[in-house]
Amino acid sequence: MDVASSVITPASSSSTEPRLMDALVIQGGRPLSGRVAISGAKNAALPVMAATLLAPGVHRLRNCPQLVDTRTFGRVLEKLGAKVTFGKDECLIDTSNVNSVEAPYELVKTMRASIYVLGPLLARFGAARVSLPGGCAWGPRPVNLHLQGLAAMGAQLDIDHGYITGKDVRLHGANFHFDVVSVGATAQLLMAATLAEGTTVLENVAIEPDITVLGDVLSQCGARIEGIGSRRMTIHGVKSLRPIDTAIIADRIEAGTFAAAAAMTGGTLTLERVVPDHFEASLAKLEEAGCTVVREVDEVTITGPSRPRAVDVTTMVFPGFPTDMQAQMMAVASIASGTSVITDTIYLDRFTHVPELARMGANIELKGNVAVIKGVEGLSGAPVMATDLRASAALALAALVADGETRISRIYHLDRGYENFDDKLRGIGARVERIRE
Ligand code: UD1
Repeated sequence: MDVASSVITPASSSSTEPRLMDALVIQGGRPLSGRVAISGAKNAALPVMAATLLAPGVHRLRNCPQLVDTRTFGRVLEKLGAKVTFGKDECLIDTSNVNSVEAPYELVKTMRASIYVLGPLLARFGAARVSLPGGCAWGPRPVNLHLQGLAAMGAQLDIDHGYITGKDVRLHGANFHFDVVSVGATAQLLMAATLAEGTTVLENVAIEPDITVLGDVLSQCGARIEGIGSRRMTIHGVKSLRPIDTAIIADRIEAGTFAAAAAMTGGTLTLERVVPDHFEASLAKLEEAGCTVVREVDEVTITGPSRPRAVDVTTMVFPGFPTDMQAQMMAVASIASGTSVITDTIYLDRFTHVPELARMGANIELKGNVAVIKGVEGLSGAPVMATDLRASAALALAALVADGETRISRIYHLDRGYENFDDKLRGIGARVERIRE
C-alpha cells in the first residue's frame, strides 16, 4: 500500500475540525468555464466505512473524499478501536483491534449516518450501543425501518437513555419488506445480513448507486448477494468476510451541483471522473432547462443557455430526481424564464433555502412540500445563512450569478459534503474567498 508520499492524518486530527465560523464571500457575475474533477461520493463512502467493521484487517478505500462527514465517521470508528488514516485520496481503516461497541451521542449527534455502525457491530460482535440520532435542521428523520429490520433478524434492541442497545445478539436470516424505500435502512440490513445465519430476503430496497456499489463491494469481500440493482435482494449469510479494497464512486450530487452552476452562469464545464448514468435525472432536467449536455464514458460537458427555462421537478427515489439536488435546482429555477414547480416527495420539509434565496431576490411561494418559483431576471448579492448541506450549495449557486457580493455564513454545512468546494469554484473562474467570521 503506497501511501508513503501522502499526507497521512488520523481521523481525529484536530486540524480537520469543522471550522464553524467560516463564511464564503462570492462576487457574482463571472463567467465560469473549465474542468472540474468530481470527488468520491460522501454517501457511498460512509456505508463502505461502516462495512469495514464486518471483517478484521486493513481496509483500503481509494478516492475517499476528505470531508467533515467522512472524518466524523472515522472518529466513530476510532472510538470503537479501529485505526483510521486519511492519506491523499485514500483512507486506510484497520479494524483488527476493535474493542468497543459504543457509538457515543457526541459523535452521532453531529452526523446521523453514524447509525450505520449498528448492523455491522451486531453482525460481527453480537452487541452494540449506538446513540439514537435525532432529527435534522429540516425535520424528523426516523430510523424505525433500521430497527424493525434488525428486529426481524433476531436483534432484541432496547432503547433507553437515548441509546439503542443490543446484547447477546445472534442475527439470523429473515424476510423483510420496506414499506418506504430507504437508502440508509437498505444499507444497514444488507451489511447485517452478510454475516447473519441463513438467508435474508429484502424487498422494496433502495437502488441508489451508493447501495448497489455497497452490494458489489461486499460481494468482492466474499458476501453472497443476489439481486443487486433490483428491488429485491437475497443475501446468504457467510461466516466471515475479507477486508475491503475498493475505489469510491464519483459523487453524483457534487456533479449535479457543478452542472447546475454551468446552467446558471451560461458557462461550459467539463465534469471529470463521473458516471453519467448516476446523475442522468439531473442532466435530463438541465437539458429541459436549455443546457447542452455531452455525455462521454467518464466525463460530461455541459453548456448553459443565456437564460435557463423554467422546469417542473418532483423528487423521487433513484433513478428519479434526487432530493439532494432539489435545492440546487431551485436556484436554477429562481433565475429561469417562466414559472417552475418543485415538489419534494422524499423530505416534505426540506426547504430551509427558500427564505434565504428570497433574501437574494428570488420569488418563491411555498405551500407544504410544493414550491412555485417565478423566475426573476437577476438576483442580488446579500448576506445569507447556510442551513444545511444542500441548501448551502443552492446559496452558493445563486451567489455565482447574483449582482455584487454574497456572504454565506455557517459554511461548515457545505464542508460536510463538498470536497474543496471553494478551490474548485476558483479553478473555473469564480471569485470566491473563504473568511473566518
Ligand atoms: C440518504 C442520504 C441523504 C438523502 C436520502 C434520500 C446518506 C448518508 N444520506 O439519507 O443524503 O437525502 O438518502 O435520498 O446516504 N424513512 C423512514 N424510516 C426509516 C428510514 C427512512 O420512514 O427508518 C423515510 C425518511 O423519512 C424519508 C425516506 O424514508 O422520507 C427516505 O429516507 P432514507 O432513504 O432512509 O434517507 P437516509 O438514508 O437517511
